[in-house]
Amino acid sequence: MELISPMVIIILGCLALFLLLQRKNLRRPPCIKGWIPWIGVGFEFGKAPLEFIEKARIKYGPIFTVLAMGNRMTFVTEEEGINVFLKSKKVDFEQAVQNLVYRTASIPKNVFLALHEKLYVMLKGKMGTVNLHQFAGQLTEELHEQLESLGTHGTMDLNNLVRHLLYPVTVNILFNKSLFPTNKKKIKEFHQHFQAYDEDFEYGSQLPESLLRNWSKSKKWLLELLEKSIPDIKACTSAKDNSMTLLQATLDIVETVTSKENSPSYGLLLLWASLSNAVPVAFWTLAYVLSHPDVYKAIMEGISSVFGTAGKHKIKVSEDDLEKLLLIKWCVLETIRLRAPGVITRKVVEPVEILNYIIPPGDLLMLSPFWLHRNPKYFPEPELFKPERWEKANLEKHCFLDCFMAFGGGKFQCPGRKQAGKSSRNHQTSSEIIACKVKSLIVDSVTLNNKI
Ligand code: HEM
Repeated sequence: MELISPMVIIILGCLALFLLLQRKNLRRPPCIKGWIPWIGVGFEFGKAPLEFIEKARIKYGPIFTVLAMGNRMTFVTEEEGINVFLKSKKVDFEQAVQNLVYRTASIPKNVFLALHEKLYVMLKGKMGTVNLHQFAGQLTEELHEQLESLGTHGTMDLNNLVRHLLYPVTVNILFNKSLFPTNKKKIKEFHQHFQAYDEDFEYGSQLPESLLRNWSKSKKWLLELLEKSIPDIKACTSAKDNSMTLLQATLDIVETVTSKENSPSYGLLLLWASLSNAVPVAFWTLAYVLSHPDVYKAIMEGISSVFGTAGKHKIKVSEDDLEKLLLIKWCVLETIRLRAPGVITRKVVEPVEILNYIIPPGDLLMLSPFWLHRNPKYFPEPELFKPERWEKANLEKHCFLDCFMAFGGGKFQCPGRKQAGKSSRNHQTSSEIIACKVKSLIVDSVTLNNKI
């Protein structure tokens, strides 16, 4: 009897613990964990993440957890989860991305946390409504310069053409002229390294650099380019109004609060943030428009009515002109809807309840703008390119369509979009910078068509 009692106590204790854990797990969302510890379903998920997410949603419902590479990622796909993602104080943007920022740009956690809010406020201000008019003028000038450098004959893959135009234009405006290379060999190298860095960015944010040799080489190349260029970038002031470019203002804050050695890393992050979404969106907008002859025809007629006959003179595009070309704006937004980021993320910092489940601290809460934009409940006939659906959005007041989430949401949504008025889920603001770029590019493609 004396021997049995401790045994019985241990067994009963284990049973109680097991039941407790079971109960706790019952309140957790369904979990897809695979059978390999730590790796979980990392390989399947890594191969085709978007397909994986959609299949899991169909099988497990509106909320589910995926275990991969040591991360617990809980995906939310409908209203209640989206509201928590955007508004709850129990989830945090900075905690979710600091690891990614460390791996991709070598910015230590303490530096990132010390600087993030200050930098965000500055970026949002500099890319706000007041400065957009100035950007539109600069964009047209820079685009003309790049178009002229292309010469008058030849053919080029559209994707390449857009990159060749928009990489230097964006960098010259947001950083200043001394960063983007001017000789052919260096330009080619820039394209190769930026594309390699961008293509494997997701892997770079998850895996040790030693496993990604080419990606790591490109990251180093870009960091070195920034390091070499920073003295010139800082020295060059605006002839017109002495204002700082986006990168100059960033470096100013980084070097005042921390030290010079972090400057190239912040330059790299800004470079990636400004090119990685905007340039593909410009390409896709052109591709969608060109493959919809009725839309193309209507756009060209609109352009001729605002600017006159094409190809005869350098077109100057102002914000007021662009306001008259509403169809182009709809095309840009419709493209952004269809080509939206795959996922955005927040870290759960306190247990949070969604759809009667409790999501534990430490989980990454994930939301997929890509799939949200393909939900027929919010966007009827979601797979179709239908610019006219944007007629319903009150763009004058900078309101997007309900559930349009391409720029993220909440406190730290993308500062590259224009910030004005309210910014709740239904009253977000549009990325005029991107819109200007793409719109000006289409306008200039009139000239280009005549040239090639
Ligand atoms: C179509 C083009 C663009 C799209 C779809 C896009 C999308 C996004 C998204 C989804 C986020 C994360 C927001 C969140 O998690 O809530 C973000 C953040 C950011 N974007 Fe954009 N973006 C675009 C263009 C730009 C441009 C042109 C810039 C220019 C510099 C820019 C700068 C940034 C920065 C700096 C952040 C990080 C904000 C922070 O750290 O708090 N983006 N963007």
